[in-house]
Amino acid sequence: MSLRLAIVGCGLMTQQTHMPAAARSKALEVTALVDPDLGRAQALAAEYAVARVGRSLADVAQAVDAVLVVTPPHVRLAVVAEAFAHGLHVLSEKPLANTVAECEALQELADRNPALVAAGAHVYRFWPARRWVHDGLRDGSLGRPLRAFVSQGNPYSWKSASGYSVLKELVPGGVLINAGIHPLDSLLWWFGDAESVEYADDAVGGLESNVDLRLGFPGGVRAHLRMSRTSRFRHVIEIETTTCRLELPTYSRHRIDVVGGDSRQTRVIGEDSEDALAPAIAQLEDFARAVETGSTPAVGFREATRAVRLVEACYRSKRARPLPALAPLPGEVW
Ligand SMILES: NC(=O)c1ccc[n+]([C@@H]2O[C@H](COP(=O)([O-])OP(=O)(O)OC[C@H]3O[C@@H](n4cnc5c(N)ncnc54)[C@H](O)[C@@H]3O)[C@@H](O)[C@H]2O)c1
Repeated sequence: MSLRLAIVGCGLMTQQTHMPAAARSKALEVTALVDPDLGRAQALAAEYAVARVGRSLADVAQAVDAVLVVTPPHVRLAVVAEAFAHGLHVLSEKPLANTVAECEALQELADRNPALVAAGAHVYRFWPARRWVHDGLRDGSLGRPLRAFVSQGNPYSWKSASGYSVLKELVPGGVLINAGIHPLDSLLWWFGDAESVEYADDAVGGLESNVDLRLGFPGGVRAHLRMSRTSRFRHVIEIETTTCRLELPTYSRHRIDVVGGDSRQTRVIGEDSEDALAPAIAQLEDFARAVETGSTPAVGFREATRAVRLVEACYRSKRARPLPALAPLPGEVW
């Protein structure tokens, strides 16, 4: 029998990715949709023939085995605590929570409920190109990493239903925790926990839109990240190792350019398909497998906490310095 899943939070990410992905998997069935804005849950339920809807998890908990939490992060702790109290397995979107303290509280809840799967959704872990880098660095076939450069920027256009990601009252920061957490998670996965942080952003009391971050990793690996919510940057992750130079187009699931001298060879990792939902389906099926077989999910709560810890270290280092008198102008300074 497939896993009976409730999706909690029926905003843009659920509409665009999780619901259509889940509808294509035989490993699970979405049997309930939950959102305090009931109309949003009802509209999606009608579109995908989901039997139950509720304003809160308590309304549907008896009819499901597991929950996918796609709420804004500030309510994660309350929602996950409620899920565990109902004996439900949990897969929770990124960032696992807004703060390390909340992530640790979530971990404590998970530890108190060892029979329940507690997984974090970091979907880039399911991108074949990112895994290929991970595996090649781990087994040494790509050489030893030396340096990485991440460039990621676009005028912000994600139209979340709640607008939470630009509401200072609800989030600890802007582009870094919202979008930057993806490349940070990849770097942590590839290189280990960061040992040094040099962080700058353009916020003067609000949420940062531009970030310049330098990280040091074990073994002397250095990374430089440039991220923007206001400017268009080239979307790329470059990695230099002792034996090669790799360029990953940030939003290509399969492509990696291997650059050496004047030559550039494009490698396609895995089956190159236009199927944008494939990683989300793989993530859901990894979770369903963990529930069914007791296997460890790709990203547990502890693993998902690492990126939040790094983000928090960046914000802490910023708070330790005096603010500039004037905000730098995006595009000029950044
Ligand atoms: N992996 C990715 O690439 C990716 C992309 C976008 C968003 N996300 C993550 O998905 C999450 C949701 O983002 P979004 O853009 O869909 O936001 P959204 O605002 O569009 O949707 C959030 C929904 O949660 C509902 N909600 C609020 N409080 C709730 C509660 N207590 N219980 C149940 N539902 C509640 C809101 O009413 C809203 O419908 C965020 O954590 C975000 O970081 C991940």
